[in-house]
Amino acid sequence: MRATITGGASFIGSHLVDGLLKQGDEAWIIDNFSSGSRENLPHSGVHTIALDLRTLPPCELAPYFTKIDVLYHLAADHGGRGYVETHQVATSNNFAIDNNVFQAAILAGVPKIIFASSGCVYPLYMQGDTDFEEYLKEEHLAGDQGYTAYDPDGLYGLAKLAGELTLQRMWLENQIESVSCRFFTVYGPRAKENHAIISFIARAFIRQDPWIVWGNGDQVRNWTYVDDIVQGLLLATKLEGCQAINLGTEEMITVTEAVARVLELANQKEKYHPRITYDLDKPVGPLCRVASNEKYRQLGGTVTPFLEGLQKTMDWYYTVKNRIEVDRNLERLLIERK
Ligand SMILES: NC(=O)c1ccc[n+]([C@@H]2O[C@H](COP(=O)([O-])OP(=O)(O)OC[C@H]3O[C@@H](n4cnc5c(N)ncnc54)[C@H](O)[C@@H]3O)[C@@H](O)[C@H]2O)c1
Repeated sequence: MRATITGGASFIGSHLVDGLLKQGDEAWIIDNFSSGSRENLPHSGVHTIALDLRTLPPCELAPYFTKIDVLYHLAADHGGRGYVETHQVATSNNFAIDNNVFQAAILAGVPKIIFASSGCVYPLYMQGDTDFEEYLKEEHLAGDQGYTAYDPDGLYGLAKLAGELTLQRMWLENQIESVSCRFFTVYGPRAKENHAIISFIARAFIRQDPWIVWGNGDQVRNWTYVDDIVQGLLLATKLEGCQAINLGTEEMITVTEAVARVLELANQKEKYHPRITYDLDKPVGPLCRVASNEKYRQLGGTVTPFLEGLQKTMDWYYTVKNRIEVDRNLERLLIERK
């Protein structure tokens, strides 16, 4: 099978490339390396094309999409919570990126698109302490402001939702099959400090004391190990027509619990008992974001337990990172893409 992977040099994209090569597929990567890195990629066996998908017109992009079996579209202006909440204008670049990629796919007659969507497409009112009836009564009543049942997570979530809706229409109007894979808070080797788990590991690595938690620690997540996301992306090719699938675990873990597990593992490496403090002014995201992963399991997908994935990720981080560098740059890394 010949696959083109936009954003293939990213954290998740590069693991997908490893997975595709492992099963004997051909991998063509398109990336502008704005947050992805050539260091993430294998030294041989991949074809890399440097392009900016935000500004390249679809007619110039289409020739890169001919004769492929599947287009994995992962390129996005994206970072973790610290980035997407504080750089919403930048994340709206994704409207342009997705539009160029999808229009080029139509021109090239791509048979199937697997889209990196997100748990951010789900309505925020379903993920917090907001009662939907109250929500309707308050600021979202139909009227001049226009009520919408969509309530995605910021402009980043809105762009992912627009991408999914475009793909639905492309199935009906252009007969292009697609699967929108909704990733839920992914972590693993090669992930960046702007994602929560890596930020926790980074704080332990530099032996931060006092240790700063963003929010009150009650936020619930289903942190998903990157190998499970790759399994889901590969399995998604089996789905027909136009579908969406959640790629996440059903393991509900609070930020406080995750921090405690990171500290336990850090202590096994070297003695460390920091004082925990809470910064309530920092971006925290919805109160509770957890996926049903029934469809993924029906396809044969397996789930890596949090402690197992965390151990692997910490071992990677402690092996490849430099303590002085991380210490010097952490505040920037928490909210920037590179
Ligand atoms: N990491 C998560 O927890 C998570 C959760 C939900 C969805 N996603 C989605 O998964 C995908 C991969 O994310 P990630 O976390 O691995 O890392 P990432 O955000 O670094 O990946 C984005 C990739 O797209 C490339 N890119 C950005 N703008 C581009 C442009 N204009 N032209 C060409 N390439 C461009 C970047 O260089 C990078 O390689 C993204 O679409 C992201 O929105 C990630």
